[in-house]
Amino acid sequence: MVAVSDSAMTSPFKLLVLPGDGIGPQILSETLRVVEWFSGYLGVDFQIHQDLVGGASIDAHGVPISDATVDLALQSNAVLFGAVGGPKWDDLARSDRPEMGILRLRQALDLYANLRPAVCFPELAGASSLRPEIIDSTDILIVRESTAGVYFGTPRGIETDSNGFRRAIDTQAYNEAEISRACRCAFEIARQRKNKVCSVDKANVMETGVLWRRVANEVGREYPDVELSHMYADNCAMQLLRAPRQFDVIVTDNLFGDILSDEAAALCGSLGLLPSATLNRVDPHLPGKALYEPIHGSAPDISDVTMANPIATILSFGMCLNYSMNKPEATGLLNRAVARALAKGLRTADIASGADEPVSGVAMTDEILSGLDELAGQMREAN
Ligand code: IPM
Ligand code: MG
Repeated sequence: MVAVSDSAMTSPFKLLVLPGDGIGPQILSETLRVVEWFSGYLGVDFQIHQDLVGGASIDAHGVPISDATVDLALQSNAVLFGAVGGPKWDDLARSDRPEMGILRLRQALDLYANLRPAVCFPELAGASSLRPEIIDSTDILIVRESTAGVYFGTPRGIETDSNGFRRAIDTQAYNEAEISRACRCAFEIARQRKNKVCSVDKANVMETGVLWRRVANEVGREYPDVELSHMYADNCAMQLLRAPRQFDVIVTDNLFGDILSDEAAALCGSLGLLPSATLNRVDPHLPGKALYEPIHGSAPDISDVTMANPIATILSFGMCLNYSMNKPEATGLLNRAVARALAKGLRTADIASGADEPVSGVAMTDEILSGLDELAGQMREAN
């Protein structure tokens, strides 16, 4: 394959690959075939290091992520993450569970801006639980704050109260710096999209919501060209189902963002399609740390992992091409190759409907790779 990059990169791009559990290793191995394709196409030397996270790391090292792996992540240009968790580790105490692997990485790398696009491929409008005329052309980007809030707040724990009842405590806490950097990121991204930010909170019942709204308004004044609106989280959950096209960028806290991003992904037909990027900066195009992962989990219920849909992870690498490597044309090329495979009728089990005969994740990746070859060939001819 001919390298077409105008500026061959001089230093290698250090990519830490953390497949995790369940379908994670399988979808990552498919994605690495796509990484290899782009290595040839862009002339980039990917220095790939694979390591353990989640249940796999608990089994090997007794912890959901080792200090050595966190150090590797800190030294990498980007982390490509699969998924963690499974029934085998469900009975562990919260602080020892596989999920702590990803939470620790987000905190250690200060990855506070979790970007979760919810875009509907027209080819899959039929797979959404909403009518095609409602879902058609939906293109939402959720900016989820991801290093603070109830995920990390203290005090927390389960104790026995004075009446002898067990009592559980979580703490939802935000300071203004944590809110403003997440909001600023949303405004920066809105400027590259449709200039609309909807800030989501529960200011009607929560103090953190009151401060969230105040700070969002303050940051909004620095972006007079961007239209800012506010919505309560419960209303947002409803509006996403009723009229998803009203949204451009949604910015919200860690917990609401976790919930609303699953909902937005399901609107688009499948969790198996949607990627995410988690960054440590307000402008995604500035250099910095980054972690890329599918929105879906490890799907322990899928017994034959070769049937898992690799698209969300492949598109997560697509976000890496854009945000960590500054190759937006390469991201566009990959998105087109994925859309082409879907247009050809290929469906993994999670997006199959009616008479569709589900294909394996391997076959889906084969088709995406031949699409890349074909599209790159067409571009060469056009030039
Ligand atoms: C996500 C996941 C994680 C989260 C879990 C695995 C800890 O649901 O990335 O959305 O809640 O943030
Ligand atoms: Mg989630």
